[in-house]
Amino acid sequence: MSKLIRGIRGFRDISPDETFRHSYAEDRTRKHFGRFGYREVRLPLVESTELFSRGIGEATDIVEKEMYTFPDRNGASLTLRPEGTASAVRAYLEGGWKIQGGVTKIFYTGPMFRYERPQKGRYRQFYQIGLEAIGGSGPMVDVEVIDLLHLLFVELGLQDVKILVNSLGCQVCRPPFREDLVNFIKNSAGDLCSNCVRRTETNPMRVLDCKVPSCKEVLEASPVILEYLCPECEDHFSRVNSGLTGLNVPYEVDPRIVRGLDYYNRTAFEAVCGGLGAQNAVAAGGRYDGLAREIGGDVPGIGFAIGLERLTHVMDWDSIASPVVDYYIAAATDTARIHVMILADALRGKGYSVETDLEDRSLKAQLRIANRTGTSQVLLIGDDELKAGTLQVKDFSTGDQETVDRESFLKKLKGKEK
Ligand code: HAM
Repeated sequence: MSKLIRGIRGFRDISPDETFRHSYAEDRTRKHFGRFGYREVRLPLVESTELFSRGIGEATDIVEKEMYTFPDRNGASLTLRPEGTASAVRAYLEGGWKIQGGVTKIFYTGPMFRYERPQKGRYRQFYQIGLEAIGGSGPMVDVEVIDLLHLLFVELGLQDVKILVNSLGCQVCRPPFREDLVNFIKNSAGDLCSNCVRRTETNPMRVLDCKVPSCKEVLEASPVILEYLCPECEDHFSRVNSGLTGLNVPYEVDPRIVRGLDYYNRTAFEAVCGGLGAQNAVAAGGRYDGLAREIGGDVPGIGFAIGLERLTHVMDWDSIASPVVDYYIAAATDTARIHVMILADALRGKGYSVETDLEDRSLKAQLRIANRTGTSQVLLIGDDELKAGTLQVKDFSTGDQETVDRESFLKKLKGKEK
């Protein structure tokens, strides 16, 4: 036998159990988003590299060192999407998805790719459910988006989630803040890690995001953006705050939320959850009024993305039934085998999930496998049953077994919702 070819580091296989969890969370989320008027879109996994380098920003970690970029056969530079917002805005601009006088509400789910150091909750291929409200610049759009996210957590029964909100200002108020921040960092350079010092030149706001404990301590005393907001940004932020309070959304203002993507302005937020370890952001997002201008359009927007691996990790699965086989049908003799398959098809036609033996196993082996499927009922057909048009129905939980007429058994069964 040749050597097993292994998968790539950071690219996980998602087992049937985990896939069930992903689909379950996606389905509930889809329905929830639909109640707010969002419609699902499918976007390409591959885009031209320029979309991300311009949209997300050259100086971000994502663009600097995390993109899967490759030339196609014609030499064009393509990139596996590291996130969905730049693509969503591109598709909006290119596809004419504008709603006159309204906000275009879309969402997407699917894999994203980032060359990050893999660890618990951080992978190189990971799944997001992302939502974008494109075309609205007012604070109530922000309020509805954050309220929707909070209500999703309630709907999914998530405990211990904190929504942290900040304002990142705009092109008017950010430069003076940036200047003071750079000066602060330069004066504290001796106490900061080399990464922070390097970022002073490239992306000083990201220094505030450093996870090194000694840096965190020094940065406690750094200037905070909220004290620099221009009157328009301050008004926007204060209306976001009063809207969230009015809707009873539990949240905290955290002036240290900076986000790793350059396109954000004004409202930025993260939802963090206990039980996730270092990678504790289960969802994150914000307003990106300037993004479209970087890629050849002009439209404001706000949105967020949920990390599906992290979301499913913190959901309580004990209260959610996993799918089990409804019936296992066993054949007691070889002649019965095809009749077992005929009955299985009839039950499947009514919406039930049914398993049968396809490997000529003995009756004893079939019953052992049936038990492992988790089904509570086994149907059994042998020569006697074939002659009499009957079935044996064995209840695994009670051990009871009874003979029933096959036709009336089928008639009595109501269809199961498919
Ligand atoms: P992001 O903060 O880069 O934002 O990612 C959003 C969420 O995706 C994170 O909070 C986390 O749950 C999950 N995530 C990110 N990277 C990884 C990874 N390597 N492994 C596992 N999960 C991960 C964005 O992507 C923005 N596009 C969100 C947005 C939408 N902003 C506006 N609209």
